[in-house]
Amino acid sequence: MTKQDYIAVFDSGVGGISVLRHLRRWMPGERYVYFGDSANAPYGSRPTEEVRDLTLAAAEKLITEYPVKALVLACNTATAAAVKELREIYPERIIIGIEPALKVAADHFPGGRVGVMATEVTLREEKFDSLLHRFDENCSVAKIPAPGLVELIEQGRAGAPETEELLRRILTPYVGKLDALVLGCTHYPFAGGAISRVLGSGVTLLDGGEGTARETRRRLEAADLLENGEGEVVITNSRDDPEMVRLSYQLLNG
Ligand code: DGL
Repeated sequence: MTKQDYIAVFDSGVGGISVLRHLRRWMPGERYVYFGDSANAPYGSRPTEEVRDLTLAAAEKLITEYPVKALVLACNTATAAAVKELREIYPERIIIGIEPALKVAADHFPGGRVGVMATEVTLREEKFDSLLHRFDENCSVAKIPAPGLVELIEQGRAGAPETEELLRRILTPYVGKLDALVLGCTHYPFAGGAISRVLGSGVTLLDGGEGTARETRRRLEAADLLENGEGEVVITNSRDDPEMVRLSYQLLNG
């Protein structure tokens, strides 16, 4: 592996672009190849085995088609279902997963009231339960599934009135009851404006994107694989529709 090899970034769709934004901020000189599996999104309501198979197939595709030094699973759902297996299959590669930013929430709001909004798979997997048990003594945690939200963001409608309506239905029971909301799905930061309008600006929104970017940088530095070149981004998508790639660039640069 060389410094010039790619950092591959994977998500079930366009959500991981929220992580790619942080990665580029922390490591502008790197070459990135992004793959969004929008043809199979959403992953979050599928059986775990299906999410695992889709994630392993996506990783294999990326690693076969590009020289890859690190793989960032920019998807909480794929991480919950498959990061362990990926590390076993590719022990020589740097594999970084993302998980809901509960530690950040517990550190900043000791004794606080924290919501975690994430997909069904993320909220039901064992990985989340062990994360929860590490921090639920420090704060009270409400699990908040958000069915339908990923679909709207995949359609480029994060800022549309129907997205805010859906968020109102999901989040109204929590208005006035939270100090922080963890966005435990990488699609959700794109709806951050609407979420804050519903919950009020006093509720802090937290996501794992920046922590993931910092961890990726730390791991590359430790392996002496950090590149300081021109920087490059290649975006690919499993949906045979140029609109998905256009939307991805728009979210990246927006
Ligand atoms: N972006 C993915 C995550 O972080 C989930 C989207 C989906 O359900 O496909 O969990």
